[in-house]
Amino acid sequence: MLELVHVTKSFESPVETGSVCVLKDITLKVENGKSLVIVGPSGSGKSTLLNIIGALDKPSGGQVILDGKNLAELNEDELAKIRNEKIGFVFQLHHLLPQCTVLENVLIPTLADKKMFPKKETQQRAIELLEHVGLKDFLQYRPGELSGGQRQRVAVARALINKPRLLLADEPTGSLDKDSSLNVADMLVELNRSEQVTLIVVTHSLELAKRVGEIMELNGGVLTNGKMQ
Ligand SMILES: Nc1ncnc2c1ncn2[C@@H]1O[C@H](COP(=O)(O)OP(=O)(O)OP(=O)(O)O)[C@@H](O)[C@H]1O
Ligand SMILES: [Mg+2]
Repeated sequence: MLELVHVTKSFESPVETGSVCVLKDITLKVENGKSLVIVGPSGSGKSTLLNIIGALDKPSGGQVILDGKNLAELNEDELAKIRNEKIGFVFQLHHLLPQCTVLENVLIPTLADKKMFPKKETQQRAIELLEHVGLKDFLQYRPGELSGGQRQRVAVARALINKPRLLLADEPTGSLDKDSSLNVADMLVELNRSEQVTLIVVTHSLELAKRVGEIMELNGGVLTNGKMQ
């Protein structure tokens, strides 16, 4: 289970002395297997919040507790291990490696602690995930040869390769047309059910949000139950 207790985040202002408070007092519990969507306008702190949940950034105050562990008490190696083994990340920009094939991109997270070539079972899982996202005919393509939606789907498969318990998706359909974005949304919902992955999706698309799960709203640094449901 994931728990945030009075989490705050401030950044140094680049234009004047002092800091800007982006997250004010976020307290949240997300049970395992749940599907949560955080909506909010551009600049409201959604990516900042997701990065803190995913241990990519540290809060200025408060605590993030994942499966009973307070992330603030872990060192960088322990955090890297948690990020690699427990958390899958679909970034706002998908960050695929252009020189690698689709299949190789999905296998990249499995290389972190093994100096060897991925095992046969791992390769098989990568192929199954790519089939699952409708890309079985594209295994040997490179990202530059795919459409935006196809790249986004590779990023989802990559995020799932290490069987994370928690999948964090930041604007996973940001650059897609309506049909492709509803497709990716339905796929996330299906994965949440079939793999029992806890899902936290951040988006400013209310249409996407409604399809995916319980909606919460981030506004002015405060998280509230979605009024727009
Ligand atoms: N490293 C940083 N230094 C200073 N300010 C930052 C930094 N990162 C984010 N911010 C500020 O925090 C605020 C929230 O940014 P964030 O990226 O979390 O918004 P968002 O809700 O994800 O927006 P979008 O929907 O456009 O992706 C912005 O005003 C931004 O300027
Ligand atoms: Mg963002």
